[in-house]
Amino acid sequence: MTAHQLFQPFRLKSLQLKNRIVMAPMTRSFSPGGVPAANVADYYGRRATGEVGLIISEGTVVNRPASSNDPDVPHFFGAKPLLGWKAVIDKVHSDGGAMAPQLWHMGIVAPKNASWRPPAPFEGPSGYVAPGKIGGVAMTEKNIADTISAFAEAAAQAKALGFDAVEIHGAHGYLIDQFFWHPTNQRTDGYGGVTLAARSRFAVELVQAVRRATGPEFPICFRVSQWKLQDYTARLATTPDEMKAWLVPLGQAGVDIFHCSQRRFWEPEFPGSDLNFAGWARKLTGKPSITVGSVGLSGDFIAAFQGEASRPSSLDELLRRFDRGDFDLVAVGRALLADADWARKINEGRLAELRGFSQEALATLS
Ligand SMILES: Cc1cc2nc3c(=O)[nH]c(=O)nc-3n(C[C@H](O)[C@H](O)[C@H](O)COP(=O)(O)O)c2cc1C
Repeated sequence: MTAHQLFQPFRLKSLQLKNRIVMAPMTRSFSPGGVPAANVADYYGRRATGEVGLIISEGTVVNRPASSNDPDVPHFFGAKPLLGWKAVIDKVHSDGGAMAPQLWHMGIVAPKNASWRPPAPFEGPSGYVAPGKIGGVAMTEKNIADTISAFAEAAAQAKALGFDAVEIHGAHGYLIDQFFWHPTNQRTDGYGGVTLAARSRFAVELVQAVRRATGPEFPICFRVSQWKLQDYTARLATTPDEMKAWLVPLGQAGVDIFHCSQRRFWEPEFPGSDLNFAGWARKLTGKPSITVGSVGLSGDFIAAFQGEASRPSSLDELLRRFDRGDFDLVAVGRALLADADWARKINEGRLAELRGFSQEALATLS
């Protein structure tokens, strides 16, 4: 098989991509004080030069006092960070790419290091950082409204700076996912409830606000996952019906593309079908989807964090699913972190030149 199918253009609303390859969002912590500088612009520019269709930025936090646990994670608010992001998107465009910032609020998380704390306590739906474990404060309805406004304001800024789309980080056990997940959302008001659909109200209102702030033609991508950093085996939706009740309202609220985070893209989502998460999301919502998870690599990214090196691997199974129409776009994380030219090499069939991934690649922004 050859990968030529991945190199067809993709159009959605105002978004025009030259191919189907997406750089997955990857936190790099190279933005001291929350400000992305020229080294960050050059890093993303190299992926644009390397023929990535859509670059999704590392998670970049919205304007809340405790939206971040790391002073080196970029902000998406304030004059200096936004000037930095303007330089990033101008560089990516001049290098022929397209880009969306990934808008993020970490919710209740462990501090990244002992010496730095945000200026306010970590905030989340019910104070829980993990099942049964308090790690911050429960948000008031005013906190919720202000957080929704902060996401809307960041999305409006992204559009004004010239970004091609936005991605909302609703995955991996961070703030929005803390609302989705029952163990971390024990609220008894209208933002909690026993059903996933009830616990989705925060996300639905947030997407509606982002849509109002950006207008009908601006593409909104929303990242979801079943797994959480707190529990890799957690599942929000255990049946297609539950998944439908979760994702369809988000689509109605304004999501254009579902980015379905899995650790291994080939794993079926439900028994009785080999469709993966992105396959089900597309089928149930009728919206385009992005798959992700160990594309082009032999081992998954959690194993990589535990020190396991990954080798290049075949794309045949990915292409089989793509050709079948399971998903529209394919996100690639570590392979693109390790090699800015990964997409170009795939396009040109230079498979012998592909590199693996090991943790040392995280040490520099190359
Ligand atoms: C260093 C690193 C940082 C990451 N940071 C983020 C992040 O900021 N936001 C996010 O949604 N996912 C993040 N992820 C997950 C990736 O987007 C992706 O889903 C994961 O690495 C699986 O893709 P891969 O197997 O191609 O690497 C990160 C992954 C890595 C390796």
